[in-house]
Amino acid sequence: MDRFVVHGGRPLEGTLTAMSAKNAVLPILAACLLTPEECVIENVPMLEDVGTMLRLLESMGAGVSRSGRTVRVRAGEEPCCEAHYDIVRKMRASYYVLGPLVGRLGHARVSLPGGCAIGARPVDLHLKGIEALGAEVSIDHGYIDARARRVRGATVTLEGPNGPSVGATANTMMAACLAKGETVIRGAACEPEVADLAGFLERMGAAIEGAGTPTVRVKGVSRLRGCRYRPIPDRIEVGTVAVAAAMTKGKVEIRNCRPGHLGAVLEMLEQGGVEVKTRGRSMVVSGRGRPKAANVSTAPYPGFPTDLQAQFTALLSLGRGTSVVTESIFESRFMHAMELNRMGANIEVNGNVAVVHGVSRLRPAQVMASDLRASAALVLAGLAARGRTEVLRIYHLDRGYERLEEKLGRLGARIERVRG
Ligand code: EPU
Repeated sequence: MDRFVVHGGRPLEGTLTAMSAKNAVLPILAACLLTPEECVIENVPMLEDVGTMLRLLESMGAGVSRSGRTVRVRAGEEPCCEAHYDIVRKMRASYYVLGPLVGRLGHARVSLPGGCAIGARPVDLHLKGIEALGAEVSIDHGYIDARARRVRGATVTLEGPNGPSVGATANTMMAACLAKGETVIRGAACEPEVADLAGFLERMGAAIEGAGTPTVRVKGVSRLRGCRYRPIPDRIEVGTVAVAAAMTKGKVEIRNCRPGHLGAVLEMLEQGGVEVKTRGRSMVVSGRGRPKAANVSTAPYPGFPTDLQAQFTALLSLGRGTSVVTESIFESRFMHAMELNRMGANIEVNGNVAVVHGVSRLRPAQVMASDLRASAALVLAGLAARGRTEVLRIYHLDRGYERLEEKLGRLGARIERVRG
């Protein structure tokens, strides 16, 4: 398993261009199953999760090719309707094929995703969405089997105990595109990635209104066509690099970003005393000494994203004073806290709340990544700690950040990837 050796203590300086968002690209690739025609997706990042999704589509009979950052997918007339456990267990987002398969073929057999390091992550709302559209769902041998002669429009509310679900909204929206009649999704997730998926589906010929708001209306059409699309930039990558600039007291310009997607994040950075200047589709982030303590609570969009909670916990570990970080979306997303403590941080976790007593510096150590965003937090801590930090198990990181060591290396970071 690869690991990173981070030689920390150097301020990050320079310019970086954001890539397309993993969490927009994955459902968009799955949505290619909705048409027999070729879809061309541009600026696709080279990530493990993208590779897994492309392998899944291939295993279902789709023609897939990649040239640089452009990916072509042609699902053809009769894609296979089964998503195997072998692939789904590697990436939960594989369940994004459920909606397109039920919508187009009237049958899907998708392995249940299984456990996850950040919490239970049930799929009840995904099933509620497609059942509302007329699918009969059963679970056998660890597989979801969903069948519908033809999906039909319906009204469905998709809020769970922790708020709306990004994945369930996307799956229901995809299935509804080819349904007979109109579907109304209430309690829909408002994340920019959901709105971007709708943008792609509309380019394919779907009729969708309200994506990006809590009520989405989809008028079913009989057929979708192939198209060309460029997904939105990755707000989580942008936020991660912004925190890296802040923690190393550096100055980084991030191009090709949408500051409008980062409202709650920029507010928190500013509250922490980090300077952020936005101009059109770029922003400059400058760290100015130790951040101020701040209280952060994750929430569905437009609230503060759970996918940046670990990185902000790392930032606040260096804060002046005590910060409180509350995780409201996933039940056990604080595995990074104990690893940060091994680097000299002083964080107490109680359930879904972390009390972060700021320290004046972090110390290098050997630490273990537990999930994608936790790994990023440990790399950021390593950049801030003067000396040699080793981050083990960075395969988690490779799932969602494209060659982070090279990107940050261009900003002056010294990070070596040790293979094996
Ligand atoms: N939930 C249910 N039932 C369901 C589905 C979700 O109760 O059927 C709950 C979840 O347990 C959670 C909450 O609803 O408490 C929100 O989960 P959601 O369904 O919105 O998450 P997701 O679609 O599985 C996506 C991202 C995650 C991101 C979350 C929240 C992708 C591929 N994944 O997951 O990204 O944290 O939305 O914004 O888009 C990451 O990139 O590191 C990552 C984990």
